Amino acid sequence: MYKYSVSILGTGFIGLCSAACFANKDIKVLASTHNEKKASMINDGIAPFYEADLQEMMNDIKAKKPELLQCLLDPIKAILETDISMITQGTPMREDKSINLGYIESTAREIGEALKQKNNYHLVVVRSTVVPGTSRNLVGRIITEVSGKIPGKDFGLCMQPEFLAEGRSIEDTLKPDRIVIGEFDEKSGAMLQEFYEYFYGDHLKNCPILRMNLESAELVKYGNNCLLSTKISYANEFANLAQLVPNVDIVQVMKGVGLDYRISDRFLGAGVGFGGSCFHKDVNAIRAWSKSKGYHSRLLKAVLDINDDQAIRIVDIAEELAGDLKNKRITLLGLAFKPGTDDMRQAASIRVVNELRNRGVKDIVGYDPKANETAELELGNKIAYANSIEQALKGSECTLLITEWDDFKTLTPDDFKEYMKTPNLVDGRRLYNYDRFNSALPFRAIGRINLE
Ligand code: UDX
Repeated sequence: MYKYSVSILGTGFIGLCSAACFANKDIKVLASTHNEKKASMINDGIAPFYEADLQEMMNDIKAKKPELLQCLLDPIKAILETDISMITQGTPMREDKSINLGYIESTAREIGEALKQKNNYHLVVVRSTVVPGTSRNLVGRIITEVSGKIPGKDFGLCMQPEFLAEGRSIEDTLKPDRIVIGEFDEKSGAMLQEFYEYFYGDHLKNCPILRMNLESAELVKYGNNCLLSTKISYANEFANLAQLVPNVDIVQVMKGVGLDYRISDRFLGAGVGFGGSCFHKDVNAIRAWSKSKGYHSRLLKAVLDINDDQAIRIVDIAEELAGDLKNKRITLLGLAFKPGTDDMRQAASIRVVNELRNRGVKDIVGYDPKANETAELELGNKIAYANSIEQALKGSECTLLITEWDDFKTLTPDDFKEYMKTPNLVDGRRLYNYDRFNSALPFRAIGRINLE
């Protein structure tokens, strides 16, 4: 017998990383998905997507205690055989940019069906990012309607937002900086707190547990992602101001700002803008939600507008440097939304390609160390795909650095000069030493212009 048994309903980044981390710590986990291929991969000990350290952890579980992590195609069975169920389904963005709660709704129904057959108290924890009111008014209500059970008496309900970033999901799951528990009632919150006291042990000395109501916890997650996005757009706004004055460098400016103990320089990296599966989706979702309640968030609109405009800015900078780009070959170094992933969701490269094409540029070559394939699914034949840095630069008349992969960090001015037809380089992520590159080739960087 294990002290805890948990069903994880949804096997994306949050779900599978939690499942693996829990199982690795002697907690019995029944994950569930409706995707047969994914389930059989997980049962074979194979991670269905790449995430740092996940495969190693799954290997370890498979070798030592395979019974601790199983994946079922039947969520009801998974719920019935466990004491705690965590909803880790995706909440994608709809066409109108509001949140799509379809997967949350169907999972709540499945929990309701299971609880109808269960007599013991069961704790339900929403861990997906959901707009305020969802845990109580959608999840809690549907479970009650379908099961006939009473929240607070027959089942508990919590909302625990998740802050993990791609590429760091395992580390973030094992070492969070805080745990936020939104609770329907004291009993629900206490049960989840006990579970995490067991799971985290000593780590909790440096990691406060904050307890609050369901809606506050739901809003914490948006507060978090919106502030991080705001910091990035703020740095980009100042990059644009810095470009009004010769030789002001945004990197130095943000370093100076970030050293203020109240601010920190993290997420003040100016560049070609944020992408990824969360920032756009969440800023848009909370904006659409607040609009539906009659409040128009001017700040969040500005955050998104500034971010989108960075694609226009980098193309403007490229034209200042290389002249009309229309009949030139343009290279994009990096396509993924950040280094270390092949994820193209909302990647800045997409906006840059669209902007280049709006200006009539047809000859665009892209190269990414990991994301060429996923980029092709997203961008199709809008660009050509190179198999190496050298091939990407060959014959090019202007290169735009879009993703700051380590592979690009080691390039020297001579590399660009050797491979490119005309070695115009625009640094969209402030990867290169400005003085070194600026003195060696026609060079521009976001957030700094030269004294002519
Ligand atoms: C983010 C949050 O960090 C995480 O807490 C949340 O749970 C999910 O969303 P993620 O999207 O995986 O995680 O990546 P992150 O490392 O935060 O970067 C997001 C984007 O912001 C990337 O496109 C990155 O290039 C950009 N960024 C980040 C900047 O442009 N400047 C910065 O200073 C930092």
